[in-house]
Amino acid sequence: MLVHLKEIVRKAQAEGYGLGAFNTSNLEVTKAIIEAALAKNSPIIIQVSEATINYVGLLPVTNLIKTFAQNSGAKIPVVIHLDHGKNFQIIKACLKAGFRSVHIDASDKPLAQNVAMTKKIVNYAHHFGAWVQGELGSLYGKEGLAKIKLPKNPNDYLTDPKKVKVYVAKTKIDTLAVSVGTMHGFYVGKEKIDLNRVRAIAQETKIPLVLHGSSGVNPAILKKAISAGIRIVNIDTALRITFTKTLRKTVSQVKEFYDPRKILAPSMAAVQKTVEEQLAILGSAHKI
Ligand code: G3H
Ligand code: ZN
Repeated sequence: MLVHLKEIVRKAQAEGYGLGAFNTSNLEVTKAIIEAALAKNSPIIIQVSEATINYVGLLPVTNLIKTFAQNSGAKIPVVIHLDHGKNFQIIKACLKAGFRSVHIDASDKPLAQNVAMTKKIVNYAHHFGAWVQGELGSLYGKEGLAKIKLPKNPNDYLTDPKKVKVYVAKTKIDTLAVSVGTMHGFYVGKEKIDLNRVRAIAQETKIPLVLHGSSGVNPAILKKAISAGIRIVNIDTALRITFTKTLRKTVSQVKEFYDPRKILAPSMAAVQKTVEEQLAILGSAHKI
């Protein structure tokens, strides 16, 4: 069933586990995420990026997720979320389409501008009863196996705990995306999470903290980050890699098939398995 983020986040906060926010871009990945949540009896966040909205269309992708949530996914709580919203018009359209959780990513802007843009979205979104995720600090990385050149001083891009309280108070956001050492994409080299920084941020605010760039993070480190205060864990690249690797294998092995269903089904099953594994790591399995 479709629910508001606050309905699943309260229990996660009270019991100290992580919620998985998985990116979808098509029917197969959406179905795989729902089936995994069902198999694991877990609440789930399904998120779309502006690129996915441009690819599928806002109403088709919204209705696809809603339809799964209300039918095969009727037994599990499902949240629809806009990931890395940058464009006010798209954010507005998402809210009108029924999203009750949106991310405004103004993290590439100077702080004052980030605060002003985020505040504007919060004012608008709260009229819909929607929650807004703000972002403080910068996340590096991109699609693929990325080699990243980071600024020498981590304080130039990681979230500064000292700025958190004022940022949350000024913007009135409901959840906070933090930069604590992870990178978007599959980062070449070990992704270290600055756990002390997570703890220091969690001391400054009670609102749920969101970890971006979680693909490729060692499960033991992910668990520690959740214990330190991370409540929502965003995962995209791991699903893309699973989907595409399996697709390449299927296409190369079964040259006589022309039925898209036969070609796509193994990828769907593989994505489901990856999501199930992640839900077990995050601790949200069997939490309904
Ligand atoms: O917003 C989406 C996430 O931050 C995904 O990061 O592609 O490294 O899993 P990832
Ligand atoms: Zn992200």
